Amino acid sequence: MTEKTSIHGQWSSRLIFILAATGSAVGLGNIWKFPYIAGENGGGAFVAIYLICIAAIGVPIMMAEVMLGRRGRQSPINTMRSLAKEENANAVWSLVGWSGVLAGFFILSYYSVIAGWALAYVIRSAGGVFNGIDTVGVQAVFNDLVGDPERLLAWHTLFMLMSMAVVARGVRAGLEKAVTYLMPALFVLLIVLVGYAMNTGYFAQGLEFLFQPDFNRVFYHCESVAGIAQCELSGSPVLVALGHAVFTLSLGMGAIMVYGSYMPKKTSIARSVVLIAFLDTLVALVAGMAIFPIVFANGLEPGAGPGLIFQTLPIAFGAMPAGQFFGTLFFVLLVFAAWSSAISLIEPAVAWLVENRGMSRIRAAAWIGLTTWVLGLGSIFSFNLWSGDEYKLFEMTFFDLLDYLAANIMLPAGGLLIALFAGWVMSSQSSRAEFAMGGVAYQLWRVLIRFISPLAVVLVFLNAVGII
Ligand code: PHE
Repeated sequence: MTEKTSIHGQWSSRLIFILAATGSAVGLGNIWKFPYIAGENGGGAFVAIYLICIAAIGVPIMMAEVMLGRRGRQSPINTMRSLAKEENANAVWSLVGWSGVLAGFFILSYYSVIAGWALAYVIRSAGGVFNGIDTVGVQAVFNDLVGDPERLLAWHTLFMLMSMAVVARGVRAGLEKAVTYLMPALFVLLIVLVGYAMNTGYFAQGLEFLFQPDFNRVFYHCESVAGIAQCELSGSPVLVALGHAVFTLSLGMGAIMVYGSYMPKKTSIARSVVLIAFLDTLVALVAGMAIFPIVFANGLEPGAGPGLIFQTLPIAFGAMPAGQFFGTLFFVLLVFAAWSSAISLIEPAVAWLVENRGMSRIRAAAWIGLTTWVLGLGSIFSFNLWSGDEYKLFEMTFFDLLDYLAANIMLPAGGLLIALFAGWVMSSQSSRAEFAMGGVAYQLWRVLIRFISPLAVVLVFLNAVGII
């Protein structure tokens, strides 16, 4: 067989692939979402379940996605179609690609709104707004921002334009370089924040919250109603943990598949994937270690929701020497982390428009950007005009609903189908040849992808809807 390459280009080296995929994986999911959902779901036990999901479900599915992408060398929709043909399976498998494109739209639409908060915080931090700020002050800054739809709209628009600009130019031109320097810088800054957290006097309490599993807290979901704790048995935190493991590794929607399609042939998929998953997990845990001590030191609520990092970290920056500088830098880097994830959310759709509609990358990016921007209005209003109960469905705002649907349903379902395709539809000759991996490692992957990952996803789904 002659070696296929993608019409969209190829990463210049293995290292660049790893950086790009890590750039996609490490994003708001790690620094903004992980701490707040860990807080909402009781901490340690949730974190333990999340780690198990990363290892047993995330890593094998990520290997499968990269492998399928590199074998197909096209947009996920066309890759799934052509691989299905190659294996004499039904072309309906291309629906995996379609659902991925839709999930990408959904996610980017609210992702961009939250990235907009980070942009707004760059300006506030640089202007010294956080110097010496206390809990009440920081909550006022946050509420002022999210309560103002016009301001949110301006930041959302800016972030969408930034993302479209990079996608339009092609991934190689801008982002490869940016990612090389910015990711390590972000990590160093997170370590600085952990250093601050160590001195709050609440470090041990933060670690205990994150790493000491108390399974009662996960299975009994408690809410305080008029000051009285009301608890009910619920398996939904497990679904949230699974959904987040898939979300944080950018799986189930074609982002990693399309990045795999630009991967050089002679690169070990297994080793690259393990490294990416390790780095992604490390960033999330370090972010948690920075945030929870600050939460406890300031009497804040771990379950404060999506505003958590925006209401905790400014207190740390406000109190530390040169905090104005470090704070500004931190939010700049957070924007970059979100940026390198955002482009991977639209790359599958852009690649398809270029392949099937003959569009230029610029036009494709513009169309997708516009559609996503409009959808983002719903998430903006969720924090102000539409925050009332009359606008909620299943007690969720538009933003909550979109996040729940995409991250907890569509991505795990996409991951499940990818696992079934790679494990059952594709012949073992094909997958073994693509991995260029033999022996125990291959067997282990095959058992995980055929049995463990699909079974786990199905069980979690059935449990979440209350069937088991
Ligand atoms: N992994 C990204 C994050 O953690 C989000 C993402 C999901 C990116 C799916 C691409 C695809 O922020």
